Amino acid sequence: MTSVAGLSPFPGFADFGGRVWLNTAHQGALPLAAADAAREAIAWKTLPFELTQARFDEVPMRLRRALGRLVNVPATDIVLANSASYGLNLVASAFPWSTGDEVLVMAGDFPSDILPWLRLEQQFGVKTVRIRPRGRVVEPDELRAAITSRTRLFCTTWVHSFSGFAIDLEALGAVCREHGVRFVLNGSQALGARPLDLATAPVDAFISVGFKWLCGPYGTGFIWLDPEFRRELRPTKAYWLAMQTAEDLGTEVVEAELRGGLGARAYDVFGTANFFNFVPFAAAAEFLTALGVESIRDHDQALVSRFIDGLDRGRYLITSPKDHGPRRSTLVFFSHKEKERNRGIYEALVRAGIHVAFRGGSIRLAPHLYNGSDDIDRALRALHEPCEPVAPK
Ligand SMILES: Cc1ncc(COP(=O)(O)O)c(C=O)c1O
Repeated sequence: MTSVAGLSPFPGFADFGGRVWLNTAHQGALPLAAADAAREAIAWKTLPFELTQARFDEVPMRLRRALGRLVNVPATDIVLANSASYGLNLVASAFPWSTGDEVLVMAGDFPSDILPWLRLEQQFGVKTVRIRPRGRVVEPDELRAAITSRTRLFCTTWVHSFSGFAIDLEALGAVCREHGVRFVLNGSQALGARPLDLATAPVDAFISVGFKWLCGPYGTGFIWLDPEFRRELRPTKAYWLAMQTAEDLGTEVVEAELRGGLGARAYDVFGTANFFNFVPFAAAAEFLTALGVESIRDHDQALVSRFIDGLDRGRYLITSPKDHGPRRSTLVFFSHKEKERNRGIYEALVRAGIHVAFRGGSIRLAPHLYNGSDDIDRALRALHEPCEPVAPK
């Protein structure tokens, strides 16, 4: 796919009115097709007779199909969620813990990857051990050294939100398998910018938000549980819509009974026909799959290379991976050599309509499919203004 005059080669997004959105690590832009789908869902609720039983039932089914296709697993193995936190808490509460078990996490990981396991200490006497990596993410030898006979599970992010480093997924997964440790992966900062085949990836549970690189609405996410791992988990809830359907209420009032054998949907978030969010989320996932995540990845990485190659290294340092390869993500972290200038530079960029993020004292730039090389060049021009972008505070 080639770009025209520096514009993104992927149409299908709103005109940003001269602004540049380089902050997908915070929120992805909703594709126009998904915005149309959201309007359709609003129309159903505005005229409630349009919210037919068939439409209501189709909402979770369409979303499961779209997500299953995106990551190459059966739709029936997808758990619907409203966040990444939902999925991480779900695994923490459903896992069959015994007193003395240990969970491994990375010190400094995104809080949602650490907090759910900390709760287990009081509840079940399960200890959370934080691996302090020598670099920015856990390496296979560090994981191997931290595993003990009590280790049951390792949880980490695929792409680290605070450094932009990606883990060596295959190698960490292999260490977990060697030691019979379950591997829970949070792909929130990766999926949509990186292809994923869950039929072969060495993970037991995969969790992602829907509102960043998947370009869905806020308050969306999903989980994939390997079916063999899922069978080990305890039930965590009894949702009437998973046990029966709204249709069942029509024929006769059936006495409520617990049902087993529900598969992945036993773990769905309540409100699975959440049409305002899940209809546009499904449309966004379908849109990305139709474009092909490999093409999106290549485009995003070309933008990352353009920024890294173009940045004045006399003035700025890049702290995320610089070389093209599996460890580099779509999150680029950089800093002025005088670090205290970063906040001012960030504010000047935002005032110029170039939206990046300020994280941990550095600036984070995160381009995605709606950005073109013109956006990168504009950010570079603003950063290279002959007089310093902004006076230090
Ligand atoms: C890696 C990672 N996980 C989780 C989240 C948050 O997810 P949620 O609020 O849906 O739990 C973020 C960012 O907000 C993130 O970067």
